Amino acid sequence: MPKPKVYVTHPLFEEARSILDTNCDVEFWNDSERPPRAEVLRRVKDKEGLVCLLTEKINEELLRAAPKLRIVANVAVGYDNIEVDACTRRGVAATNTPGVLDETTADFAWTLLLAVARRLSEGEALARSGNWKGWNLDQLCGADVWGKTLGIVGFGRIGRAVARRAFGFQMKVLYTDAVRATEDAERSFNAEFRDMNSLLAESDFISVHVPLLPETRGLFDAPKFFRMKPTAFLINTSRGPVVDEAALVAALENKKIAGAALDVYEHEPFIHPGLKRPNVVLTPHLASASLETRSKMAVMAANNVVALFKGQRPANLLNPDLFKKS
Ligand code: DGY
Repeated sequence: MPKPKVYVTHPLFEEARSILDTNCDVEFWNDSERPPRAEVLRRVKDKEGLVCLLTEKINEELLRAAPKLRIVANVAVGYDNIEVDACTRRGVAATNTPGVLDETTADFAWTLLLAVARRLSEGEALARSGNWKGWNLDQLCGADVWGKTLGIVGFGRIGRAVARRAFGFQMKVLYTDAVRATEDAERSFNAEFRDMNSLLAESDFISVHVPLLPETRGLFDAPKFFRMKPTAFLINTSRGPVVDEAALVAALENKKIAGAALDVYEHEPFIHPGLKRPNVVLTPHLASASLETRSKMAVMAANNVVALFKGQRPANLLNPDLFKKS
């Protein structure tokens, strides 16, 4: 029985590679750069499985180019790069990698929060510059984190992991979400619900943890920045288009907020030049980038593919209706 043909748009890590190699007839993209679109479209022609990254757009064009495709396994929890409805219409299963990256992403949201509050990038640049003249009382004074109010927008797994870490900093934790958490959850995360406007007005640090959906695109716009404290900071590790970058730049220029720390951008890898200012910490979409976590994500994607070809329901199916019908 021939093994199912699978295309993988990245070399992945050892464990995931070996799961795929054992069970499938795999072609890997082995270059360190992302594959050009034309290359992906060419490679998927005869493939039944595709393991892809969030940089690949899985849309009608790709699905048309891959008539034999049965599964697309995203190595990411966010799946705004996949048109799931289009996959369902064509009978293609779509999967993601939820859960494994929550703690790692929360660690990084805190890395950014602390870095922007305590002016880490500016301090590091000064220390490396050779221009540091020595200790001074008012040198690079930032803002305290401990004892302040943290506002979490999106109280899912990652938002909650961020909330849990606030306990050690003796912070008051507020959250907002389309669905209010249970009383038990609020108690165990020591978090109080607020509507968006109250959270904006009360928080010293606002950390964003919502998926990119039509209703969250441009969620942080000029009126939102206007409602924030002029001493507050915005931290975004979710998806870039959740923040209207032009509005954020205007808010920073007009001192409507104190600063921002961003890991994701509206038009990655392009970064709005107006964001390149001292009170903005910028990182290149790294929040889940620990070796352990990225390896686990790749293994999850590989297991989703193998499960489907064994006739099982992949664990992280995004279009369960499809599986019910088949
Ligand atoms: C995701 O998984 O959606 C992150 O953005 C990358 O880990």
